[in-house]
Amino acid sequence: MKITVINGTEKHGVTHHLKELFLEGFRGCAEITEFYLPKDCPVFCQGCARCILKGEHTCRDSRYVQAIIQALLRADLIVMTSPAYVMHVPGSMKAFLDHLAYLWMPHRPSPEMFGKRAVIITQCLGAGASSTAKDIKHSLSWWGISSIQVFSERLMGDIFWDRLTEEKRMQLTRKIRLLSEKLARINYEEPAKTRPAAKMKFLFCRMMQKSLYENDPQYLDGKYWAEHGWLGKNRPWK
Ligand SMILES: Cc1cc2nc3c(=O)[nH]c(=O)nc-3n(C[C@H](O)[C@H](O)[C@H](O)COP(=O)(O)O)c2cc1C
Repeated sequence: MKITVINGTEKHGVTHHLKELFLEGFRGCAEITEFYLPKDCPVFCQGCARCILKGEHTCRDSRYVQAIIQALLRADLIVMTSPAYVMHVPGSMKAFLDHLAYLWMPHRPSPEMFGKRAVIITQCLGAGASSTAKDIKHSLSWWGISSIQVFSERLMGDIFWDRLTEEKRMQLTRKIRLLSEKLARINYEEPAKTRPAAKMKFLFCRMMQKSLYENDPQYLDGKYWAEHGWLGKNRPWK
């Protein structure tokens, strides 16, 4: 199986520690590709909207963005990690997610995304781990992913792994290992089921794309939906 990890920080801190514990259960049996932000996508979306209007390869940052997207599309399991910065994802993660707007369902979602599984690992000192996970989940769900597990924790002590109480470290370790074991038991040959909420979002976007396509068959999004047969009977889930 293939795992692609997007690390929301380059720091080898608590987020990194938790992610390493999570991956322990997969080492040796999975091909793991990791990206670190901001190193692997050190660019902000300029808001030109060329990715949406003219195609993702016309983005001036596509060399960074596409390398990561291709790895995401190959993955059976996507792992997204992030500390909380002022209750949300750090700017580097937001900048990366902004670059993927064209993959949202109202534009040109990748059919591969609908069968994928993902896990989001976030943590903070006191408050904000859940809202940080939500920032990421929002994008993933609009890419079409239904099977998303969330691990979000508060340290409530120190900001360094080594300075946490033994009890807290054990508690975090136990919890992340349980999640890792749960996800390691999945048969990744089988695509994940698409939930009704994702199907509703898709059908709503389909209505919009149908009318856009009727008004202008050359409009990129509508054309993409038509080519996939989604304006007819085809659907991106099994
Ligand atoms: C810029 C910045 C903003 C932060 N904002 C919050 C916050 O809103 N809530 C919180 O509980 N902790 C906050 N923290 C603390 C981090 O989330 C916490 O130390 C976390 O463990 C850091 O993870 P890391 O070791 O992987 O870098 C912030 C830290 C930084 C550097």
